Amino acid sequence: MSGLISAATLERIRAASDIVDVITQVLPLKRAGANFVALCPFHKEKTPSFSVNPNKQIFYCFGCHKGGDVFRFVQEYENIGFVEAVRRLAERAGIPLELVTEPGERTAHFLKEALLKVHEQLTQQWHQILLNDPSASLARQYLASREVPTDAIRLFRLGYAPADWDHTIRWAGQQGLDLVTLEKAGLVVRKEGSDRHFGRFRDRLMFPICDEQGRVVAFSGRVLNPDAPGGKYVNSPETPIFSKGRIFYGLDKSKRAILEAQCAVLCEGQLDLIRCHLAGVQNTVAPQGTALTADHARILKRYANEVILCFDADNAGQNAADRSLDHLLAAGLAVRVAVMPSPHDPDSFIRKEGAAAFQDLIQRAPGFFDYFLDRCCRLHDPATDRGRLAISRAMAEAVWKTGHEVLVDTYAQKTAHRLAISPDAVRREFRQFSTAKRPVSEESLEAPSNEPDTAHLAPHELWLLRLLFLDDELANWLARYLDLDWISHPAVRHLVSLRTEAARENRWTGVAAFISQLTDPTEIQLVSMAVAEDRDIPNRQQQVADLVRRLRNQHLDRQLGELQRRLADPALPEADQLNLVLSQKTLRQAKSQPLQPLQRSES
Ligand code: UTP
Ligand code: MN
Repeated sequence: MSGLISAATLERIRAASDIVDVITQVLPLKRAGANFVALCPFHKEKTPSFSVNPNKQIFYCFGCHKGGDVFRFVQEYENIGFVEAVRRLAERAGIPLELVTEPGERTAHFLKEALLKVHEQLTQQWHQILLNDPSASLARQYLASREVPTDAIRLFRLGYAPADWDHTIRWAGQQGLDLVTLEKAGLVVRKEGSDRHFGRFRDRLMFPICDEQGRVVAFSGRVLNPDAPGGKYVNSPETPIFSKGRIFYGLDKSKRAILEAQCAVLCEGQLDLIRCHLAGVQNTVAPQGTALTADHARILKRYANEVILCFDADNAGQNAADRSLDHLLAAGLAVRVAVMPSPHDPDSFIRKEGAAAFQDLIQRAPGFFDYFLDRCCRLHDPATDRGRLAISRAMAEAVWKTGHEVLVDTYAQKTAHRLAISPDAVRREFRQFSTAKRPVSEESLEAPSNEPDTAHLAPHELWLLRLLFLDDELANWLARYLDLDWISHPAVRHLVSLRTEAARENRWTGVAAFISQLTDPTEIQLVSMAVAEDRDIPNRQQQVADLVRRLRNQHLDRQLGELQRRLADPALPEADQLNLVLSQKTLRQAKSQPLQPLQRSES
């Protein structure tokens, strides 16, 4: 991905984006010696373990081990990709960003830009009409009757699309916009078999739908006159900037709250979501009536460990909850369900019972399987044989999707309890089901781990990384004396090879630049971890020599162990035995040898 932006441009942007300045815009940094510290934005803590090193231009958290350069920070903090992070810092620094792209891509890029622009302009236009225009007085009354305050109308940029079929067309003409673009944006529709166009949205309350960065990419329009033709909501079609299965309504406004809570509340509609915000439940998103897709689930997983489904009390809502389960589990999310008392949806419930009652409902939401057992017992009669079989089958099917024996057994017991039959019988029934179906995901329902894979990192390999990034001289020495095979952690091995190569080829430009060429999160975190402590290391040369000798000898020990294992095989032919013993002797001798420069085959 970084290939799209030239290295020179990247370095220009970096030079103009002091990491302390960038982070200060979002976190209160305090000076602590040569570094700055703050409470870590990436995990909950009471004492600051998040540090920023102005000399090296990197950040690192000693608590959760997140770290990296300025691009990485923006990526992590805003939850966006690398290119997007670069784009934002370039914008902040006023540096034009020329993406190196194919002509085809460039055309697509310009089309997207044009579509975004039209959406933004029309959002402003409809919003102004809703706030001020006489034609929108019914729309204003409607919002008042639904108790949507002006603050919310402004925050969510609601609008009113006038009833006139030609309104959008005329507006486009005044703006100098061509109809082709508007048609591609899904905002106007061509009358079949003619050249005439008309606006898709007429006499509707307009909800702009934003992408994660808050750019308007589509609209949903609610009918105001119940006798009007068309559905209750008319939505934008799929366009180059909008794919329904990948957009959540409200995510741009709720993403920080979701990250903080590590939990997302999912409701069905736009007005539900707005009402949740007003009720102080900001970590809410809405898939807007469509079935939740696998993409939706993966997007949520970037922000949260858990989702709370908060769908309508009606059957459609509850069926939607059931259908969402597979994707959510497959994405590794824990699932709870807050059931709205009939006939409510979140909007009507909050208006009737108040914000506190809603928050309580969310907090007490049972786990999905407890909810599901309840629901099954309502759908089927546990007093009949048929009902009991149906309940136990439905539970078996749902629970097996987690792939967790512990959960399967837990819910076999709970189901047995509810049906007043022996747990063993239900267990057997569940097991029969298991042979027919494969579990969806091995890791579902487990608290996901953001930890880098450093569990198997030996302390001296971390020590090696510290020394590696101290200066070019040490890196050069390592290039000559350290055999990569002696390193057991694959990420460390790769980092050593990259760093020593840079030293050999004389293209080392500092640790921040080094980090931005990395893509593997474990590697990024390892480097940040290694360079975070700014302590001086005395006697470096001696230390690095001792360390490399130790790594070599441990490698030899591993080989010796392997030989020992093979020698223990009673079926080993005698000739092989002798060979292995000789090899053992050579390896033992090698352990007492001083370090030798490596023989490089490529030179
Ligand atoms: P609902 O019918 O529950 O709508 O559909 P709602 O949010 O309660 O609407 P209000 O409160 O009557 O205004 C839930 C969601 O499904 C989508 C919309 O996103 C809606 O918010 N939907 C519904 C459509 O896309 N088209 C429709 O015709 C109906
Ligand atoms: Mn509803």
